[in-house]
Amino acid sequence: MVALMSQASTPHHASPAADPHRSAHAPLPERHDPDHHDHHEPAAGPAVRRAKERRAIVVGASSGIGAALVRQLVSEGVDVVAVARRSEQLEQLAREGHRGPGRVIPLVHDVARFDDVEAAFDKAVQQLGGLDLIVYAAGAMLEVGPNEFDTAKDLEMLAVNVGGCVAWLNPAANLMRTQRSGVIVGISSIAGERGRKGNPVYGTTKAAMNHYLEALRNRLADWAVHVCTIKPGFVETAMVAQARAQGRTIKGAISAEDCASAILKAARRGKNEVFVPFKWRLVGFVIRNIPSFVFKGLNI
Ligand SMILES: NC(=O)c1ccc[n+]([C@@H]2O[C@H](COP(=O)([O-])OP(=O)(O)OC[C@H]3O[C@@H](n4cnc5c(N)ncnc54)[C@H](OP(=O)(O)O)[C@@H]3O)[C@@H](O)[C@H]2O)c1
Repeated sequence: MVALMSQASTPHHASPAADPHRSAHAPLPERHDPDHHDHHEPAAGPAVRRAKERRAIVVGASSGIGAALVRQLVSEGVDVVAVARRSEQLEQLAREGHRGPGRVIPLVHDVARFDDVEAAFDKAVQQLGGLDLIVYAAGAMLEVGPNEFDTAKDLEMLAVNVGGCVAWLNPAANLMRTQRSGVIVGISSIAGERGRKGNPVYGTTKAAMNHYLEALRNRLADWAVHVCTIKPGFVETAMVAQARAQGRTIKGAISAEDCASAILKAARRGKNEVFVPFKWRLVGFVIRNIPSFVFKGLNI
C-alpha cells in the first residue's frame, strides 16, 4: 500500500545528472504541514477534506471523468494543472476552482502532438512546484460502423489513448522515480478486456494501456511510485451520450462524480487495477472466459 503523503515527503535520492527533468524544475517544496496551504485559505469550513497529495496533473480535464476529478481534487485542497484542447471548458473549471481551497491551472494542449508534451509537462510541474499525482483521463472513442475499416479514425484513437498516454506518463514516471514518490493513474476501460467486433481499435487502445500501465507499475515499484489502472464500465459523460446517439442502449451508467471518487479512493489505497463500479470486475471475468467460438457470435 502506498500512501501518497508519505511518498510526497520522501527525499530525493537520485543524482540530478541522472535525471533529465531535475534541472528543469524547482526542487519539490517541503511539506511541513499537510493542512497548511500556500495559495489561499479554504473557502469552506472544517467539512473540507484535506487531500494527502498537494500537486496534480489531470490530462483530459475539460469534461466528463477528468473534469469531475479536477473538481474533487480542488475541493480537497489540491492544486491541479488541467490539460485538454478546449480552453473555454478549462477556463470554466478555473473559475469554479477560485472557490478553492485548491487552484486550477488550465493548460491547453493536444495530446496527439507528441513533440509538445515534454515542454507542456515541464511547464505544468514548474507551475505546481512539483508533482504528487498524475491522471491520464484523455480518451477518444470514435464512431465505427460494423463494416467500416477507417485507418484515419483508428490512428486518431491510438494517438490519443495510447500515444498521448505514453508521452505524458513517461516523463511523469521519470520524475517520480527520481523523487522516489508519486502516484500515476491511467483511465483504461472494461473495453480492453476482449477484442469486441463493435469497435476493434478502441478496445485495442485500452488493452495497450493496461499492458503499459502494468509494466510501468512493475518498473516503478522499487522507487516507491505507484501506478493504478482504472477500468470503468459505463459513466454518464459525452462518450456515453455519443454511444446512445448511435443507437446503443446503455443502462446503469454511474455519474462522473461517483467515478472520480472511486478513482481517487483506489489510487489512495494503492490499488493496482480497479473496475469502477465493482460489478464490472465480474463482467470482465465472464467476458474473458467466454470461448472464442461463442464470442464471435456475440453482437457486442
Ligand atoms: N464514459 C464511459 O462510459 C467510459 C467508460 C470506460 C472508460 N472511459 C474512459 O474514460 C476517459 C474519460 O472519458 P469520458 O467518459 O470522461 O469522456 P469525455 O467527457 O469525452 O472526456 C474525454 C476527455 O479527453 C480529452 N481529449 C480527447 N482528445 C484529446 C486530445 N487530442 N488532446 C487532449 N485532450 C483530449 C477531452 O478534452 P478536449 O476534447 O477538450 O481535448 C476530454 O477532456 C477516456 O479515456 C475514456 O476512454 C469512459
